[in-house]
Amino acid sequence: MEYSHVPVMWNELRFFLTPVAVSGAVFVDCTLGEGGHSRLMLDEFYGVKIVAFERDFEIMNIAKARLSGYGDRIEFINANFDAIEEYLSGKRDAVRAFVYDFGISSFHFERSGRGFSFRDDEPLDMRLNERSGICARDIVNRASEMELTEIFANYGQERWAKRIARFLCRVRREKPVETSRELAELVLRAIPVRYHVKNIHPATRVFQALRIAVNDELSAIEKSLPAAIDILAPGGRICAISFHSLEDRIVKNAFRRAARGCTCREEQCRCTGVPRISILTKKPAVPVAPEIEHNKRARSARLRVAEKL
Ligand SMILES: C[S@@+](CC[C@H](N)C(=O)[O-])C[C@H]1O[C@@H](n2cnc3c(N)ncnc32)[C@H](O)[C@@H]1O
Repeated sequence: MEYSHVPVMWNELRFFLTPVAVSGAVFVDCTLGEGGHSRLMLDEFYGVKIVAFERDFEIMNIAKARLSGYGDRIEFINANFDAIEEYLSGKRDAVRAFVYDFGISSFHFERSGRGFSFRDDEPLDMRLNERSGICARDIVNRASEMELTEIFANYGQERWAKRIARFLCRVRREKPVETSRELAELVLRAIPVRYHVKNIHPATRVFQALRIAVNDELSAIEKSLPAAIDILAPGGRICAISFHSLEDRIVKNAFRRAARGCTCREEQCRCTGVPRISILTKKPAVPVAPEIEHNKRARSARLRVAEKL
């Protein structure tokens, strides 16, 4: 099946990145995916080099092939963006921008075969890095009813979390839940039909919750943003695109903390005690209507931008 991932909010990103795209600048693409944003940046900002992080080895190789024509203007790092400090400490003065485009790519839903989509019948894996950690099948079949309830409620904001968890535990006593379709059907049966929302599959939130739990997505964001603020050269910018309120809240709070100055609140301040960034988007920027018309995924995108002082 053909698929393509359309980069979101490029016009807005370009607007905020242009002033810092000076010759010799390094831009860090923390979420390379298939390289959509990286390619746009390489084409637009001729003097800029990119360091690109991607946790998923398979999709990173797709991007590598797509961007091979740009030679050494782009460096690929197969790592979690929670480890940027480890890789970028030598480039501190040169880094003028960080770009985050959270979540997963169309590749994951449509090509990876790892059970991200409730529309397909695939093994329930959902790991971005297949060499590490537990997979969705482990969580679904081993977590307690209470743990499952918390995952569905906290990461999926699913109002039927408890009911779905209870139903799931009953079903798995007969037979383990192995595939994305089995899980999707089970959720469908657990939520009363009169509460099914038109145009949104009832399993959407459960799948989001499991993916976030499997990949510990929110902790990675929490860890990465302060590191990015630290590494960024003065005047440099962080642009972060979120797709749900859990991600957006982390970005908003991380920016607010750094804009406020002292955060340690200890008698003897251990932090710098002065604001380190200025927030350029008082409210998050949202895509314009024509973009949403052409790219459904852009519907929920929110861009926040901050500048290092
Ligand atoms: C929405 S896609 C990015 C799409 C890309 N900006 C484009 O325009 O083609 C997000 C990508 O980030 C990767 N990713 C998610 N969390 C990550 C993390 N903590 N560290 C590194 N990469 C991550 C995913 O594997 C996915 O490929």
